[in-house]
Amino acid sequence: MPDAQVKSEDKAKDFFVDVPFETPGFFLKGSAHLDWGMKNRLARVFDPKDGRTVMLAFDHGYIMGPTSGIERMDLAIPPLIPHVDCLMCTRGALKTCIPPEVNKPVVLRSSAGATILKELSNEVIGVTLEDALRFNAAAVTCQCYVGGPFEKESLANLCHLVNEGNRYGVPTLGVTAVGRELVRDARYLGLAGRVIAELGAHFNKTYYCEPGFDEVVAGTPIPVVIAGGKKLPEAEALAMAYKAIDQGAVGVDMGRNIFLADSPPAMAAAIRAVVHDGLKPDKAFQMYNDLKGAKK
Ligand code: 5RP
Repeated sequence: MPDAQVKSEDKAKDFFVDVPFETPGFFLKGSAHLDWGMKNRLARVFDPKDGRTVMLAFDHGYIMGPTSGIERMDLAIPPLIPHVDCLMCTRGALKTCIPPEVNKPVVLRSSAGATILKELSNEVIGVTLEDALRFNAAAVTCQCYVGGPFEKESLANLCHLVNEGNRYGVPTLGVTAVGRELVRDARYLGLAGRVIAELGAHFNKTYYCEPGFDEVVAGTPIPVVIAGGKKLPEAEALAMAYKAIDQGAVGVDMGRNIFLADSPPAMAAAIRAVVHDGLKPDKAFQMYNDLKGAKK
């Protein structure tokens, strides 16, 4: 599409950010017409009391190897589990490091085939739905590299998961994966989130951006959660989570900003308070410091 046409369309966009998205019949945006199994699984990922979730992402090793903070998943992850609603990881992490007695829903990383040593967008689906069900997954997930070198393949991966998941009532999380050359602004994230929703994903993980995050959420007709991204000072990460929720995100799927914090359990608890209790950033940072101090 010629750039001039894109620009003229931008002028006409109106996201009606002040008009709530109606969710008749079910508590999650865009999910009213799903079947019972899908809704039941989504109601495990998102707390039906407030429609929100704190997901703990520790799938980084599938592309990055032994990532700082989770070199030993068996030691790093179990203390965080009581503070979060949901785990997001690979089947390899689950079967080696997470006790099966943990009764938290799992969003299973199902894309594979790339590492940081090569082109990240060149992925395939590496986990069958049958195996995801064997791991009792509440949802499956893959990266979506909109605008990336393997855009088509990554979107085909998403469609594959959606098609297979629809057969068994397993929802799909479409992850907005931003290639190195792309800018994480509202225009890009809004485009990616909308494409992901239109291809049938049941929820979208994206990044917080300023300005315009409220428009990213408004233009994406499925629940939106944010990744944390690179490690920030704890106060900034808490403020980012607060702003994302305030502008319509229904949770976080956060990794490094939790497990690389000075006190990961304190950070998980403070993030939880922001997401579920609406704790303001300054109070959440105070809570983080209090919990961190109490553990010394
Ligand atoms: C990669 C992922 C990761 O799970 C995601 O990056 C979340 O982790 P972090 O908060 O460390 O960014 O899906 O796209």
